Amino acid sequence: MKITVFGTGYVGLVTGACLADVGHEVVCVDIDPAKIDKLKQGVIPIYEPGIEDVVKRCVAEGTLNFTTSAEEGVAHGVLQFIAVGTPPDEDGAADLQYVVAVARTIGQHMSDYKVVIDKSTVPVGTAEKVQAAIAQELEKRGTQLDFDVCSNPEFLKEGSALEDFTKGARIIVGTDSDQVRDLMRECYSPYMRNHDKLMFMDVRAAEFTKYAANAMLATKISFMNEMSQLAERLGVDIEHVREGIGSDPRIGYHFIYPGAGYGGSCFPKDVQALARTAKTIGYHPELLLAVENVNLRQKETLFAKINKAFDGDLAGKTIAVWGLSFKPNTDDMREAPSRTLMESLWAAGAKVKAYDPEAMEECQRIYGNREDLMFCGTRNEAVKGADALVICTEWKAFRTVDFKWLKEQLNFSIIVDGRNLYNPDDAKAAGFLYYAVARGDSIASPVQ
Ligand SMILES: NC(=O)c1ccc[n+]([C@@H]2O[C@H](COP(=O)([O-])OP(=O)(O)OC[C@H]3O[C@@H](n4cnc5c(N)ncnc54)[C@H](O)[C@@H]3O)[C@@H](O)[C@H]2O)c1
Repeated sequence: MKITVFGTGYVGLVTGACLADVGHEVVCVDIDPAKIDKLKQGVIPIYEPGIEDVVKRCVAEGTLNFTTSAEEGVAHGVLQFIAVGTPPDEDGAADLQYVVAVARTIGQHMSDYKVVIDKSTVPVGTAEKVQAAIAQELEKRGTQLDFDVCSNPEFLKEGSALEDFTKGARIIVGTDSDQVRDLMRECYSPYMRNHDKLMFMDVRAAEFTKYAANAMLATKISFMNEMSQLAERLGVDIEHVREGIGSDPRIGYHFIYPGAGYGGSCFPKDVQALARTAKTIGYHPELLLAVENVNLRQKETLFAKINKAFDGDLAGKTIAVWGLSFKPNTDDMREAPSRTLMESLWAAGAKVKAYDPEAMEECQRIYGNREDLMFCGTRNEAVKGADALVICTEWKAFRTVDFKWLKEQLNFSIIVDGRNLYNPDDAKAAGFLYYAVARGDSIASPVQ
């Protein structure tokens, strides 16, 4: 099939590359010329395991092309995926300007039937706005052309995006058109040789399903973080509790790790946007607001712990930070707990020596060059001569450590572990003050 994807970010690039990899002819369009230049040269602007090989292979085979020309993109595909960003606006609602801009472009350039597919995460009712924007543009041109708009939300996770896209549990399509159903089945059939994963529903239900899924997952995380706050104050080891409740199949082990709070480009903004939607229809979203507030508090606990460890005197201290991305296997730092930590450390007069396997370039892009931020080539370099260590992201490279060696590197034997990576007994036996998340820590987070 001929397919066009607007947006070459974490979702658009994965969508385009995966669809090209199964033989579809894909054109990816982005308004960012630097990104498109890089992609044309085989340089991937994001870190996502496995994507580079797929892109290079498909470009070489001629199934994947990149352009900044919207006109070229619109002319190419019968399917037009919209996979541009939907960041929060100042009220927390999803900002639809990029989605609507693509819709307008499609309306301006189309000359035959198109299926316009909202893959971006968009609030209920967006497909109608996309429909109206295209219709307006056609009217301005004095043209009447047939088109359909459907919803096909994306459920991939950064870090395992290719696997999720190609082997995901379900493919949701919101439409009431038989023609769209047939075309979407044709598009996704390569991923359904084992069993049918397509779930058809109406457009509004499909749009809502994406928000409900993210709100549920965020709720699980905030629930567990709230349990960790109680456990910490009660002197209970939360890891026992996690295993104890996770073993119940009604609860499950996924998304119940206590930690430093959820970040990333999805949960924070989607919970906020859904809460905003609720307010606009006169419903007070008690649970969603609590999920968000618990998360905001949890993100402050890393700083609270390190600050307490130094008796509130962090001025002039140098803190090693392991992990900058909001989770492992991505370079994405949107809403990452490391940002809350570093910004608080800087405000307290401390310096940061940071190491992350993939996110240091992104960190530099966000914060620029500053004297109180040093990037290190390895995790070992980051701790050398630092006063203490804070772990923000559970990258594989941090999962084991030689405590004897670490003790020699740090000026003070203090570890704040926001991801519960180590056995507290081992750390304490090695002479560390080890402040993890509710592992029987002596420091309860001072956050109320
Ligand atoms: N990142 C994720 O893990 C994830 C997962 C599921 C769903 N989503 C949703 O998918 C959408 C995209 O997210 P992302 O993380 O890929 O965003 P992103 O910010 O990484 O990428 C968006 C891209 O769209 C481009 N763009 C903006 N306007 C454009 C236009 N008019 N024409 C062409 N390109 C344009 C930008 O230059 C950018 O490259 C969002 O709605 C997000 O909520 C994201």
